[in-house]
Amino acid sequence: MRSVILAFTLFHFATISAAENTAQLEEEARNLAIQMDMQLKTQLKNAMKSRGPLNAITACNIKAPQIAEARSTDGWQVGRTSIRLRNPGNKSDAWERSILLAFKQQLVEGAPAANLQSSMIESNHEVSRYRFMKAIPVDEICLACHGDTIAKNVQAVLAEKYPSDAATGYKSGELRGAFTISKILENKRAD
Ligand code: HEC
Repeated sequence: MRSVILAFTLFHFATISAAENTAQLEEEARNLAIQMDMQLKTQLKNAMKSRGPLNAITACNIKAPQIAEARSTDGWQVGRTSIRLRNPGNKSDAWERSILLAFKQQLVEGAPAANLQSSMIESNHEVSRYRFMKAIPVDEICLACHGDTIAKNVQAVLAEKYPSDAATGYKSGELRGAFTISKILENKRAD
């Protein structure tokens, strides 16, 4: 009998601490997304103001991966993805795609973009991984490079750098993509 109670108690504690851990992971991931968003927008605004969209392309092009890299600390991986891609390297996997489609639908139905986030724990025979996504809506400032009317010289640079660019024609308020953030919780490979 005692061992049953002990087993139950241990199970109970394990459940509570797993829930706490998930809440903490979610908060850390959400903060990483918010910080990256603010940093990218600041860089973009400054670059657009001082040098215009043509040169600001480097803010979204070169700076975004750098910012993502700098934020990828303590085992966290930070990136961006979208259904309509500019850089094919940002392609979504099956889970990301399903969440992007859900975010898109929720935005259309009037949900505030700031609330659109989702998380899960992915486990296979190799790793157990916490995954988090947060929606990125289109703002006015994005339209110079992702909107309907893009300056000819900007179009030319985009066409040269991203021949398969599908990330134009957006309107303000639509879903542009999402931050996608993950952390390996356990590596099961014995090597
Ligand atoms: C000055 C031009 C420019 C502006 C303005 C701009 N972007 Fe981008 N955006 C780019 C370029 C170039 C890329 C490709 C980056 C890369 O190579 O990873 C990109 C890629 C992205 C991606 C990654 C997914 C993909 O399609 O590859 C997201 C998400 C994104 N932009 C969101 C935004 C948002 C949100 C705004 C407004 C806050 C914005 N961008 C404003 C040029 C711009």
